[in-house]
Amino acid sequence: MQAPERITPPEGKLAVFLPGLGAVATTFITGCLLARAGQAPPIGSLTQMGTLRLGKRTEDRVPKIADFVPLASLHDLEFAAWDLFPDNAYEAAVTAGVLNAQHLALVKDELSRIEPMPAAFYPEHVKRLHGTHVKKAASKAEMVEALRADIRGFMQARGCTRGVAVSCNSTEIYIEPGEVHASVRAFERGLLESDPNITGSQLYAWACLKEGVAFANGAPSLCVDFPAALELAREMRTPIAGKDFKTGQTLMKTIIAPGLKSRMLGLRGWFSTNILGNRDGEVLDDPDNFRTKEVSKLGVLEHILQPDRYPELYGNAYHKVRINYYPPRGDAKESWDNIDIVGWLGYDMQIKVDFLCRDSILAAPVVLDLVLFLDLARRANFRGVQEWLSFYFKSPMTAASVYPEHDLFIQLMKLKNTLRWMQGEELITHLGNEYYD
Ligand SMILES: NC(=O)c1ccc[n+]([C@@H]2O[C@H](COP(=O)([O-])OP(=O)(O)OC[C@H]3O[C@@H](n4cnc5c(N)ncnc54)[C@H](O)[C@@H]3O)[C@@H](O)[C@H]2O)c1
Repeated sequence: MQAPERITPPEGKLAVFLPGLGAVATTFITGCLLARAGQAPPIGSLTQMGTLRLGKRTEDRVPKIADFVPLASLHDLEFAAWDLFPDNAYEAAVTAGVLNAQHLALVKDELSRIEPMPAAFYPEHVKRLHGTHVKKAASKAEMVEALRADIRGFMQARGCTRGVAVSCNSTEIYIEPGEVHASVRAFERGLLESDPNITGSQLYAWACLKEGVAFANGAPSLCVDFPAALELAREMRTPIAGKDFKTGQTLMKTIIAPGLKSRMLGLRGWFSTNILGNRDGEVLDDPDNFRTKEVSKLGVLEHILQPDRYPELYGNAYHKVRINYYPPRGDAKESWDNIDIVGWLGYDMQIKVDFLCRDSILAAPVVLDLVLFLDLARRANFRGVQEWLSFYFKSPMTAASVYPEHDLFIQLMKLKNTLRWMQGEELITHLGNEYYD
């Protein structure tokens, strides 16, 4: 495949649309404001801190990613959001309780000016939330038009040249793609008929794609992961990615499991449980919404371990995931993993992981990287599913013909090689033979 001929430079302002102004979104916005003022370091973000090697190891060419590909500057980001609660970004950040008062005070004015637009919300898809800041529309087709008007209005008011969206809204109930999701035609008919399987998050995705706004899905909901959305993304020459930010326990799983498998260590079982007390936890306390998350979390091991190829090692592995809503912990989640592994001659061993993590602190840099990389992808004329961004997701979207790649280190290689390829640099195979000839 030919590298893209020319990447349009990132001139002008970039609109960042966030369906959902909760813990993740406010932690992300606050971090961008603090980082661009030099008041806190953007730790965890590959676009802000990462480097990549070019050419041979002897060449010593290791630029920062931000100096290698033309990324938008943090100073050019303009933030917009939708939420069913009218709290501005400052109030929402205080409610989320992730960041301390000192950090919030530094950017209080800027945060207070970010007020959410009324949401496209259908309570049957998220039963635990009862907000009043919602749009009224006679049909879901009309709702899409209202969202498109929001997008155009914001971009015009702020003088933005381009837009990117990352959905940070609550997990919706589990929905399998059905007939209405099969093609653009079927979906547009479904919008006119307000089909019950079309959810709020799908409407944001649809409106963004119609406006040529690149879209990433940070929740495990169906959202943009169905054939009609893929068809529309290709038609509109717009990049999409998803789904479900890879943070916390699943991040650890995709670090540990590839290591066990690469040494051909077997697995008898992997029990994962965690407690969290934020609004995300409250929504996931409903079994229909938890099911969406469970499916997203369970797929990871199956794809990494490939039990069909290694039946002796992984054929009978038992995998269980529990999430427990426990209000005292707020966003400061604690997760436990008990991993029963098998070694040489069938001897048993155990690994225990107790991760005292901060979910939104891990998710915020993921949002930033997705914003900047999706904008880059759009300017490089990429369209449809961006498999090179699998690195950021629990349940990576892929072409129908291939299985998703979950191994974090393969995902990183894929991402960096895509950047090299974009800039016409040699891809790195890690062969290493050339140093010994
Ligand atoms: N924090 C993490 O590490 C992490 C990791 C993976 C996925 N996620 C997903 O990201 C999403 C956001 O997580 P969070 O911790 O910020 O949750 P949160 O509950 O703090 O924020 C979600 C926000 O979305 C709003 N919302 C719900 N439906 C909406 C709609 N239709 N339109 C507009 N707004 C809507 C809610 O009112 C809420 O303010 C969740 O779906 C979560 O499962 C989070």
